Amino acid sequence: MAYRWKNTLSAADVTPESAWLNRRQIIAGATGLGVGAIAGPAFAATEGLEPNSFEDITSYNNFYEFGTDKGDPKRYAGEMTTEPWAIEIGGMVDRPGTYDFKDIMSEMTVEERIYRFRCVEAWSMVIPWNGFELADLLNMAGVQDGAKYVAFETLYRPDEMRGQRFPTIDWPYVEGLRLDEAMHPLTIMATGIYGKPMPNQNGAPIRLVVPWKYGFKSIKSIVKITLTTEEPPTSWNRLQPREYGFYSNVNPNVDHPRWSQASERRIGGGLFAPRIPTLMFNGYEDEVASLYEGMDLKRFY
Ligand code: MTE
Repeated sequence: MAYRWKNTLSAADVTPESAWLNRRQIIAGATGLGVGAIAGPAFAATEGLEPNSFEDITSYNNFYEFGTDKGDPKRYAGEMTTEPWAIEIGGMVDRPGTYDFKDIMSEMTVEERIYRFRCVEAWSMVIPWNGFELADLLNMAGVQDGAKYVAFETLYRPDEMRGQRFPTIDWPYVEGLRLDEAMHPLTIMATGIYGKPMPNQNGAPIRLVVPWKYGFKSIKSIVKITLTTEEPPTSWNRLQPREYGFYSNVNPNVDHPRWSQASERRIGGGLFAPRIPTLMFNGYEDEVASLYEGMDLKRFY
């Protein structure tokens, strides 16, 4: 593991983006393997991918709590206080409680995961996240037998989140996963990008990343996690049930009612860059297809 550390970052740990890119090339050259090798062999699906720049990743965002324009999160997310921060973990767990973010970080091993990120709006990026497996956090709380789903909730603080002063969606933003999806090793709680603490506009201090699903499943700035027996409500499904399902797996064969999902625009490619084909499960088919065996992916979209 080339890039792994425990606990929160200190200023000395922060690697400038240019140096980081250099080191990545050196590592790739030295081992004769692609970029995916950094994250370990199980995640080699990202091999050869060039991550987007820190600038792209942090200036073109969806975070409706701060407005609906792609530039609003960068413009206004600085108004959100992220210290102190805690996550309330409850429902069907052995150790329910309010877990301080710092205490969580002291228990978790943060590693780097370079993932494709595909928004339902048909744009995409490649993002070098830092984070830990959601399974480790859930195991810390102790998942009880019979739990089937995991519900997530974003911070609700209209004083600091100007978008919440308008009924764009029914606040707070909520999301959910089936328990086996949540426990899958690809599913992470991300706490940084490029070795820097998570920028506010990307969901500081801690957000979900589920790389084989459309980006809206990857809920930001999480304050509550609940283990349940029932499929939890999700914000986009509540808003537009005909357009957004609970599963929302990236699928080039199932179009959005208003646009094709067969291809995507890679952010940062320039105005004339050709669209690229969208991959089944966003390129993670080998790792996750078995989760959906026997399910009609057109019906359970
Ligand atoms: N989480 C919250 N709380 N609010 C949001 O508006 N937008 C989602 C998702 N998580 C959203 C959210 C959508 S539509 C996308 S594409 C991703 O965040 C964008 O993540 P990024 O800005 O880090 O690229």
